[in-house]
Order: sequence, then C-alpha cells, then structure tokens
Amino acid sequence: MNLFMCSFSGILKQVERFSKFSPFPLSMKQFIDFGSTNACEKTSFVFLRQELPVRLANIMKEIDYLPDKLLSTPSVKLLNSWYSRSLMELVDFLEKDPDDKDVLKNFTKTLVNIRNRHNNVVPTMAQGVLEYKDAFGVDPVTNQNVQYFLDRFYMSRISTRMLMNQHTLIFDGSVNPAHPKHIGSIDPSCDVVEVVKDAFETSKMLCEQYYLTSPDMEITEVNSKNPDQPLHIVYVPSHLYHMLFELFKNAMRATVETHETSPTLPPIKVRVSLGSEDLTIKMSDKGGGVPLRKIERLFSYMYSTAPSPVHMDNSRNAPLAGFGYGLPISRLYAKYFQGDLQLYSMEGYGTSAVIYLKALSSESVERLPVFNKSALRHYQTSMEADDWCMPSKDPKKLGKNEMTNRHFGEIDFWLFFK
Ligand SMILES: Nc1ncnc2c1ncn2[C@@H]1O[C@H](COP(=O)(O)OP(=O)(O)OP(=O)(O)O)[C@@H](O)[C@H]1O
Ligand SMILES: [Mg+2]
Repeated sequence: MNLFMCSFSGILKQVERFSKFSPFPLSMKQFIDFGSTNACEKTSFVFLRQELPVRLANIMKEIDYLPDKLLSTPSVKLLNSWYSRSLMELVDFLEKDPDDKDVLKNFTKTLVNIRNRHNNVVPTMAQGVLEYKDAFGVDPVTNQNVQYFLDRFYMSRISTRMLMNQHTLIFDGSVNPAHPKHIGSIDPSCDVVEVVKDAFETSKMLCEQYYLTSPDMEITEVNSKNPDQPLHIVYVPSHLYHMLFELFKNAMRATVETHETSPTLPPIKVRVSLGSEDLTIKMSDKGGGVPLRKIERLFSYMYSTAPSPVHMDNSRNAPLAGFGYGLPISRLYAKYFQGDLQLYSMEGYGTSAVIYLKALSSESVERLPVFNKSALRHYQTSMEADDWCMPSKDPKKLGKNEMTNRHFGEIDFWLFFK
C-alpha cells in the first residue's frame, strides 16, 4: 500500500482505535504452543492482525509526546512514516478471510516486508537523538524523557520483531536444518554455555582484528539443580548471544586498553549458575573499572560518549564501540523476558556485568510498555528542585571573611555533636 494513499487522518484514526487496547504479553509457553506440532497458522494470523497494530499504536502514541524538536528531525520523521505505513498494511488484513490460503500467504509476505522496513530503526532513532543533541544540547529533563521513551520504544520493537519472527519462521513450511528442534527463534533446550562460547569467539576475532591481541576466557558452571548436568533453559539464543557479545566486546576493550603495556592480558572470567528461580551469568574483567558516578550514564542513550559510527550498516570492520547502545539495548533484551542486566564496578580494578534470566519458562513472560495515564505523566514531568543537598562546587573558596552566618551555623552544629 502506498502511504500517500492513506490520509493523515486515516492513520490517526487507526492509532486512536488500537491504542485503546493494552498489548497482550505472551509467555514462553504460549510462544511454544503457537509453534507446536499442531500449530495453527490461522490462529496465529487472527491474533497477530490485532496484536501487532495494538503494539504499534501504543508506541506511536508515545512518539507523539517526544519534544517537538526531536520529532521534527528528518530521522524521526522517517521513522514515523515507517510506523504509519506498517500499521496501515496490517489493518488491511482485519476484514480478510482467515480461511483463505492466499490471505495467509500475503500476511506472511507483509510481515517480512514490515520486518525489513524496520531493520534500521535503532540507528535511525540514534541518529535523530544525535541531531537533536548537536543542535540543542542535553538537559536532565530531556535526557530523562528520552531515556524513558527509548527504553519503551526499543522494547516494543524487540517484542514486535519477536512476534513477526515466530510467525514467519514457523509457518514458512520449512524446518531450520541447523536447529531442527527450535520453535521459531526459541530453543526449548538452550545450552547457555555454548552461547557464551560462541559470543566469546566472535568478540575475540573482532578484538584481534582491531587490537592485534585479545584476552582469554575462563568459564565456570554451577548447576545447583542437577550437578554435572549442562545448563539448559528455554530461551531465544539470538537474544542471549546479543547480550553476551556486547558484554564481551566491552570487557575485551577495557582489558586490552588498560593493560596496553603489560606482556599478558588478564582473562575474562565467566560464571554461569542455574538456581531454582534464576539463571545468572556473571562476566568479570580486570579492565580498570568505572567510577560509581558514571555507571548510570553508561545506560543512557543521550549521554553516550561514543562518536557516531561512520557507517550505518554493519560493516565488516565494525570497531568494538559504536553508538554506545550496547549496554542499554542488552539490558532491554534481558528485561524482555523478566530478567535484568546490571553492572558492578570497582574503579581501578575491573567490572562485573551480571545477566539475570528466569530459569523457569513459566516465568518468562513478555514485559511490554502500555500507553496509559502513568506513561503520560512521565512525559509531562518538569524539572523539580533536588530534595537532597548538593555538595558545594567550590568549597576551598571559603576564606575567613567569606563565611556567612549560615556557615558559622553549620560549624556550630558540628561542634555541638563533637
Ligand atoms: N567492562 C567495562 N569496563 C570498563 N568500561 C566499560 C565496560 N563496559 C562498558 N564500559 C563503558 O561503558 C560505555 C558504554 O558501553 P556500551 O557497550 O553501552 O557502548 P559502547 O561500547 O561505547 O558502544 P557500542 O556497545 O554501542 O558499540 C563504554 O564506552 C565504556 O566506556
Ligand atoms: Mg559496547
């Protein structure tokens, strides 16, 4: 469908219509049921033709609340046009007959087109944020709003891609020859240590290309449920790989750059532990660490310090640092199925990154943003005065004659407690 054929008011009407519904989070079990041997393409079609527009419309409502200056950047305008077009293409299927084989075929084709159209959403949005930052700088309120929005926007994208991938992979009529047991993108018996090793090897190759050296890895497994048994969970291996690859790149870069002059590099230590509730992966490096003050910023989209990559595509010589989105996006992948990703650092020594995943598939349920009054409130917050005292920026300037009554008051106060 040509976007110019849909009127602006037609698009708005559909956004209003579908954003009134809340997204319906699926559990890992439901994802697997959709792809089980008696999987029904018709059921999946009927679910997705409603659910995908709901998820798109919910996030499109939030896009509208971004600062005008960000909305009017060419990148965000382009993104908006992709979302509008995809929404309208999906809405087209609402009146179609689910029993018609051609309809089902066309639907799969449309999903593939939509997925391809949205391939560059992350770098395009990042470009928009950079354009905004270059023109208007960053203030804490905008940073907070953009952070809140982007976490939800990218999470929504992870979820819609997951839905589209499952449908197209399961119903394209073929079995993945490399992984016949996979259900779409889900591995019902995902060997976590295998994925750790894969991500390590790829990152190591990249590190050697760039720095001509790379640290080794030491891996320890703890299976508290079945000692000596491999660590398996129901998970999406590509998501796990993404997180681990990002963490390895960071750990390797920090290790190599901190030990530039040493003859040997300290290894990266990985510990994987399976408990009754969590599957935890801890990756520790001796890459010099990060001061506590900066940790939160490492997850910020706006305060990212990385220079913008020259190429928007995944060029072969990709360096170990790009947009600065490695950590925030990896944390979203972890949170998507109710896990988390946290960073603990000791400045002067090293960093441990910890990925928490749900050990039980019954607890792996999608975490999805919903547009409602609470979400709206986040975009309407204004700068409030800090309710904690800020340390003086220039304490040494307090010469005898510059002391005010207030300072004498403070000194009396401390003497009183001596
Ligand atoms: N293990 C670590 N040790 C020291 N610093 C780290 C570590 N992990 C991350 N950092 C710091 O956090 C910053 C942000 O990391 P992040 O992975 O989000 O972005 P990036 O590596 O700069 O770029 P990208 O991952 O998008 O290619 C890094 O630039 C680096 O300064
Ligand atoms: Mg990184």
